[in-house]
Amino acid sequence: MCGIIGVLGDHEAAPILVDALKRLEYRGYDSAGIATVRNGTLDRRRAVGKLVNLSDLLVHDPLPGKAGIGHTRWATHGAPTEANAHPHRADRVAVVHNGIIENFQELREDLQAQGIAFESETDTETVARLAQHYLDQGNSPRDAALQTIARLNGAYALCFLFEGEDDLLIGARKGSPLAIGHGEGEMFIGSDAIALSPMTDRITYLDEGDTAIVTRETLEILEAEGRIANRPVKTIRLDAAQVDKAGHRHFMAKEIAEQPVVLADALARYLPDGADGIALPEGLDFTATDRLVMVACGTAFFACQVAKYWFERIARLPVEIDVASEFRYREPPVPPRTTALFVSQSGETADTLAALRYCAGKADRIVSVVNVPESSIARESDLALPIHAGVEIGVASTKAFTCQLAVLALLALEAARQRGEIDAETLASHLADLRALPGLLNQALNAGDKIERISRDLAEARDILFIGRGAMYPLALEGALKLKEISYIHAEGYASGELKHGPIALVDDHVPVIVMAPRDSLFEKTTSNMQEVMARGGRILLVSDTKGIEAAGDGIWRSIQMPDLPEIFTPILYAIPAQLIAYHTAVAKGTDVDQPRNLAKSVTVE
Ligand code: AGP
Repeated sequence: MCGIIGVLGDHEAAPILVDALKRLEYRGYDSAGIATVRNGTLDRRRAVGKLVNLSDLLVHDPLPGKAGIGHTRWATHGAPTEANAHPHRADRVAVVHNGIIENFQELREDLQAQGIAFESETDTETVARLAQHYLDQGNSPRDAALQTIARLNGAYALCFLFEGEDDLLIGARKGSPLAIGHGEGEMFIGSDAIALSPMTDRITYLDEGDTAIVTRETLEILEAEGRIANRPVKTIRLDAAQVDKAGHRHFMAKEIAEQPVVLADALARYLPDGADGIALPEGLDFTATDRLVMVACGTAFFACQVAKYWFERIARLPVEIDVASEFRYREPPVPPRTTALFVSQSGETADTLAALRYCAGKADRIVSVVNVPESSIARESDLALPIHAGVEIGVASTKAFTCQLAVLALLALEAARQRGEIDAETLASHLADLRALPGLLNQALNAGDKIERISRDLAEARDILFIGRGAMYPLALEGALKLKEISYIHAEGYASGELKHGPIALVDDHVPVIVMAPRDSLFEKTTSNMQEVMARGGRILLVSDTKGIEAAGDGIWRSIQMPDLPEIFTPILYAIPAQLIAYHTAVAKGTDVDQPRNLAKSVTVE
């Protein structure tokens, strides 16, 4: 999704703006631009493609000024062209925007009827033209911005910059995150703390509906109803190590490699040394819950799908899961004694946030599992459980997935304990298995070289199938998503038992079939599926443990060996080969691994 930055500094704004936009690149974009005010004169530069194009433009056509705004655009309305790139401006105002203005056509037509011309296809230009309209009526920049914001429907994070105003930024948020950075005699506005981190660690997060009127010395925040709001200033320390590649070629490679350490830290937060139970916040009463609803998108949804097996098998708690973009439109009943749980790495996914709001007031409790504790989803939950994965920059989610699974596993074990479904000895055994996981993930990473060699062949494939049974079925879905989203190869995940119901028609010697199958209680059935595939010339890549690879025999095309571990937690371990297969295949194909085409790290539009 788009990235926003605003600067009221005591140095030239352009380099600060471009540097901040570089830290927002991970969100995904296809054009970028900045605008500044210098001695009252407003001007802008925009460029299509990567930020280097904007930087080159600024070298040849500098943009002076110590007040400015910047934007990386992920196209929603209108193709990625210079005309559609932000900042959008009218005569005396420029604006950058993340989100979707749902009533922009109506507003645009209203302005066009008054003779106002437009130069782009975007919803954002309507915001600039509307603000200019109010300026032309004699309103101050502040009132012009407030009147404009009051007429907008939809989701937005906005930042306005005005001609003649070298010391004024106006920001607003509704549905898309926006934060204020407090400097020394400087002030900043940004989409997240990552963008602001080099300038300041003192951050004020705007609440839903807030408008911020910012000067270098003052910050006034108005609630949606116009009342003055006091929002806390938090210290958010993101050291440089968290936002660089630490010697890896890609952020995704770094984030895959750091999972053993990150997972160990996440587990330690919930399983402190010496504690005999799981350290969860007060308020999680699974004895008062008859039903758990889990809602998420993408990889986070597959984490929910794995967790469904755990909650139902171990805690005997019925679970409904759905993708957030479908959930609320089904208008599902949410009966009493229902707990609604939302999983989101960013905590800002618009569909997941909307699903949470559908459950608010219906479910007995709203719980979220997030990687950003200050995010919108966390703030609107009764209980937010952080996964402690650290900043995840690669668009393809990796360490967040394994940490989500770890926290969900702990929740399932706690539910089982509270509901009397497991005794203390069994709980202790499962917790010991979880504590041993980081070491096993470390061993799994050793398969990286072999996977790199296999991936050179996979990169030649046009279609690839992933199959799995039980809790490995959602892992097959996740493996297919990882591969398709960064290598652009068509990949599909299926329940192994479903092959015979259609998908096996796809199988020939051009279609690798990747089987995620430890030698568990379902392995024999998976062996049959592999035989069916090989009988039709299909190439089997088996991801299994020693026993599974031995049992599969010589007919398989390739194998990737995983360490042995108790069946219950294999999805967490087998996420590693799934991620490595996707990563090395994408590298072999030469795609943009960290910022794959068309994708954004946080989908803050529905
Ligand atoms: C995962 O690799 C994808 N980038 C995407 O499916 C992602 O998981 C999904 O957009 C949900 O994001 P969230 O966890 O931030 O809500």
